[in-house]
Parts: sequence; C-alpha cells; structure tokens
Amino acid sequence: MSAPITTASGAKFARILSTGSYRPERNVTNAEICERIDSTDEWIRERSGIIERRYAALDETVVDMGSAAAAQALERSGVSPAEIGMVLTATVTHPYQTPSAAAEIAYRIGAVNAGALDIAAACAGFCYGVGLANDLVRGGSAKYVIVIGVEKLSDWTNQADRGSAFIFADGAGAVVIGPSQTPAIGPTIWGADGAQKDAITMTQSLIDYRNNGGESFPTLVMQGQLVFRWAVSEIPKVAQRALTAAGVQISDLDVFIPHQANMRITDAVAKAMKLPAHVSIARDIAYTGNTSAASVPLAMDRMLEAGEILHGGTALLVGFGAGLTFASQVVILP
Ligand code: COA
Repeated sequence: MSAPITTASGAKFARILSTGSYRPERNVTNAEICERIDSTDEWIRERSGIIERRYAALDETVVDMGSAAAAQALERSGVSPAEIGMVLTATVTHPYQTPSAAAEIAYRIGAVNAGALDIAAACAGFCYGVGLANDLVRGGSAKYVIVIGVEKLSDWTNQADRGSAFIFADGAGAVVIGPSQTPAIGPTIWGADGAQKDAITMTQSLIDYRNNGGESFPTLVMQGQLVFRWAVSEIPKVAQRALTAAGVQISDLDVFIPHQANMRITDAVAKAMKLPAHVSIARDIAYTGNTSAASVPLAMDRMLEAGEILHGGTALLVGFGAGLTFASQVVILP
C-alpha cells in the first residue's frame, strides 16, 4: 500500500490586491509611423483608434519594464517581497529562450522565496496568469502571486509593414493576487486553437534566420482581417461564458477591460455583448497602442488611477491573440 501524502490547501478565495504599471517615456506619434509606411494619421486613427503609442528605449528590456511594474504593484499591496510564492510573467518578447524573464524579475524585486515562470499565451497571457494565480492561491501552492504582462513589441515589429507597424507598442502592467475572505475572481474561461496558428505568427523561426545566413530578422506578421473577424465573432461568446460561470449579470458589471487589440474590435465586441451604457469600457489603446500581454493590466491601472472606475468595482477581463488563444474572467477590482 502506498504511504499517505499530505496535500496543500490554500485560501478559500483569492483577489487582486493591487495594480502597478510602467509606460516607457518615448511617445511615438502616427506621424512618425507614417515616415516608415505609406499611411496617414487619419487612416490609423479611424482603423485602429490609435493616436500614439509608447516605445521603450533601445537599451530598456522586458525585464526592466516588468520589474518596474511589479515593484509598484508590490509596494501598493503592502505584501513583503519574501511572501511572494510565484512570479508569473506573461510575455512573448523576452529575447532569451532561457532563462525566463520571470526568474530575473523575481530576483530584482526581492521575491527570494518565489517560483518563477513565463507564460507564452500572447495577448491572452495576462488573463491566463490571473486564472493560474487564482488557482495557486486557492490550491495552497503560493500565498501571494505577482502576475505581470510585459512586452517590447517594437523589437519584433517590421517597421515597414503597413499591416502591423502602427499597432504594436511597449509597456508593462502587474497585479498582486492573494487570499480573500470573499469571492473576487470568477472561473477562467480559456482555450487555444492551434489550427489558426498562422493568423498571428513570426516571419520565420530563429533557427531559419540563422540557417538563412542572418537575413531578415524574424518579426511579427498577422492576417489582420482574419484576426478581426475571429475576435468579433468569438470573443463576445467567451466573455459571456465568463459572466455565466461567475454568476454575474451583464447589468451588474462596472467595467469591461478587453485586450487592447484595436478600438474597432473593442466597439464591435461591446456591441455584440449588448453591454449596458453604464459599463465603462477600457480604451487605453488610444495613447498606448497594442501592448499584447501588457494591455489589460495597463488599462486597469490607468482607469483606477484616473478615478474612471471604482476600487471594489466588478470588471470583466478578456484577452485574445496569437495561438489563437483566449482567456476571460470576472474580477473584483482592488
Ligand atoms: N495605411 C493606409 N492604408 C492601408 C494600411 C495602412 N497602414 N494598411 C492597409 N491599407 C489599405 C489597404 O491597401 C486596402 O486598400 P484598398 O481597399 O484600396 O485595397 C485597405 O486599406 C483595406 O486593407 P485591409 O488590410 O483590408 O485593412 P483592414 O480594414 O482589415 O484594417 C487592420 C487593417 C490591421 C487595422 C485590421 O485588419 C485589424 O485591426 N485587424 C486586427 C488586428 C489586431 O487586432 N491584431 C492584434 C490582435 S492581438
């Protein structure tokens, strides 16, 4: 007979305790983008809702930005770094296969007792992280978890590609998740459709790049219309499933924070969901661009800091992107 083993059990519920963010200094206007592609400020605003975006400095890294956002979230939470049990970093732009960005971020913020790993779920990565952190806290594997979404997409964007150069940008957002007396993170609805892996991908692998004699550094490439149609038809259903799983009526929502892919996608998804007029909608993309895994926590942090939404309000989050991947949950805001 096998020996009995002790299993962990954690808090009954988990919640987001705090947010943090890091926005790089350099503003990149549509006029600057149009120096490199045949486009206009008017076209970019109309088709994407983007007015300007931020680019990190050349020597500023995913680890630098992620550490800054995580440190701010940690300070606001009042949790000591040594109490963090896990650092989850959602990113697809850390330029090392190994070690992970999370391991270095954990070291920099003093999370000396934490496990650390990166989540490669593209623009859905932050919402994947919130779902995992909720389960880690409730399952007893970690008392506190930091979830970071961070990207330096400017490094992996073809600045001459008309289809994507105006969309992608850089930044970082983070949350601390810990135990809660009351339910504050609903079930995560997630999935991945690898049959559509080519919808958003890289022009070639790093191995192909090496074997081709170092020509044409790999950059992001997307089938814009396909992604647009997929997002508008599938994401309202995913978001509705997250509401149903949490037992929350759409009329009880205070804010909708979707991945900031494109303002037109946000508008179309909100319309398809019949979002009531009182529900605030995150529109951070206008001055931030599409920052993939960073976009949901950046938008959440900005709206809370600006007083656009209330602490303790009910928010519906949804991320979606390359994979194709998606994840959604209802959360109570810190
Ligand atoms: N500037 C000016 N004109 C452009 C342009 C640009 N940057 N890119 C394309 N066009 C032109 C095309 O040449 C075409 O012209 P035509 O009608 O004379 O042939 C027209 O605009 C429409 O091109 P199309 O590629 O169909 O544009 P679109 O309406 O699909 O818009 C995107 C392009 C990228 C804005 C849109 O597809 C999109 O947002 N998709 C989703 C992308 C996304 O969110 N990705 C992130 C997911 S995480």
